[in-house]
Amino acid sequence: MLRKNLTVTLGICATLWLGGCSDETTAPAPPPEIQTATAETAALAAQVRQSAAAAGLTPLQRPAPVRRELNVLGRALAFDKELSGNRDISCMTCHLAKLATTDGHSVAIGQGATGLGPTRVHPDGKFIHRNAPPLFNLHAMSTLTWDGRVFKNPQGVIRSPGANLLPSQRAVLECGTVSALPMFPVLSRNEMRADAGNELAAIGDDQPQKIWRFLMRRLGAIPEYRTLFEAAYPGQSFDNMSFAHAGNAMGCWITSVFGFTNSPWDRFLAGSDDALTDAQLRGAQAFLGVGKCAQCHNGPLFSDGKFHNVAVPQVGPGFGDGPDGHDDFGRMRQTGNLGQKYAFRTPPLRNVELTPPYGHDGAIVSLRSWVDHYSQSTTKLQAYDPGQLEPLLRGTLQPTTAGILATRDSRLRTLTLTPEVVDDITEFLKALTDPAARDLSAVVPAVVPSGLPVDNIP
Ligand code: HEC
Ligand code: HEC
Repeated sequence: MLRKNLTVTLGICATLWLGGCSDETTAPAPPPEIQTATAETAALAAQVRQSAAAAGLTPLQRPAPVRRELNVLGRALAFDKELSGNRDISCMTCHLAKLATTDGHSVAIGQGATGLGPTRVHPDGKFIHRNAPPLFNLHAMSTLTWDGRVFKNPQGVIRSPGANLLPSQRAVLECGTVSALPMFPVLSRNEMRADAGNELAAIGDDQPQKIWRFLMRRLGAIPEYRTLFEAAYPGQSFDNMSFAHAGNAMGCWITSVFGFTNSPWDRFLAGSDDALTDAQLRGAQAFLGVGKCAQCHNGPLFSDGKFHNVAVPQVGPGFGDGPDGHDDFGRMRQTGNLGQKYAFRTPPLRNVELTPPYGHDGAIVSLRSWVDHYSQSTTKLQAYDPGQLEPLLRGTLQPTTAGILATRDSRLRTLTLTPEVVDDITEFLKALTDPAARDLSAVVPAVVPSGLPVDNIP
């Protein structure tokens, strides 16, 4: 590797003469076998760059800057349990800094529970419907949630069927779909609002505007929030603001602190051949070729923003679908289209190494096993072992193998990958990790305006 770097340096010096290189140009030439290996690597790198461009795996732009006061407000709200009915859970309880903005569970655990991350448990053993996805790079993602129910339509209007926003609320949103998303977890009884015990829980599920009004009343009772809101939106009075102002602040804060654009893959795209190891380079080639991965995982975030069924078993409490309500029909829930039964949004893959378990329900707990499940997926689905799940979820596997295979994406029908290719692709996925995403502790505030405890794993 050292010799190879030297050769690369020499190449650069030969074409772009720089004063500091002159000593190295007199170094002895590397032996022929290393020269050949380097030439092969360079050829493969060039080929991978070309296929990446053709597949639309383009570089990721940095998020637009957010004004400081809006970030201060957004961070306070995202960590404040004041937003939950019984003041016992915040957004960041499920999107923990320590766990790369996820919670480490296959499916998340909502309000009414205690503990954080792996030790979090609900007294009734309850979970919520899906896996908590990470919050990375959402400035570049306009279709949110696993079934895409908060999205931007072709006219650029943000839509959220079920609890529609008023035009005056849409007008507040500055950072795209992610500015609207934070308005929804607060409505959900399982996630944040609770069934009883507080004034938000007493409001009917069909009155989202009233829930948001009551939340603003709560926040307005804390003088520091009035100050923070008015600083974040200069010239406006707190009393004329709606919960869209809160959602927007959280969404903008998410884009500004969780944008990560400096992975080995980014350095590779920018021209540095040795940013990737040899295995990662082979993995990239397979990702773009035999693995068919880039047919769905493309664009700067490795997601086409579309919906596919990739043969994932259903575990956890489900989303109210099927005979016992424990199934989750995915995209079909939104469109009614039977062909989209069990289809979920292609998730972005940057920093994916840091966010197990995987899939909409976290059914597969390791990254290599996830990659491997694409190979001979019929057999893998039939032989799925719920023993990999945490004990409380092991009995929840739905008997839906035949139904899942009926709408599985046809590209997977005959896909077979050798163990070596699975290894290489897994290595390649690790090249999508920005080292800065490994330690997010700097985003966690010491205190929040309500004075309630801040959930954080040190
Ligand atoms: C109980 C755990 C929990 C809490 C609390 C929670 N979330 Fe989430 N979050 C989830 C789950 C689960 C999903 C996926 C939902 C789905 O697909 O139906 C999600 C989805 C998201 C997404 C979309 C990500 C994507 O890639 O589509 C964002 C953004 C987000 N949450 C931010 C927030 C904010 C902001 C709050 C607080 C207002 C919050 N979350 C509260 C569990 C939680
Ligand atoms: C037909 C489109 C399609 C193809 C081909 C495809 N994926 Fe996926 N991928 C998806 C969808 C959709 C999901 C989410 C599925 C679910 O949750 O039910 C997913 C999930 C993932 C995840 C889990 C991410 C997370 O955050 O949970 C990884 C990792 C992944 N894919 C990698 C790959 C690799 C590697 C390949 C090639 C071997 C590949 N994918 C091929 C569509 C595709």
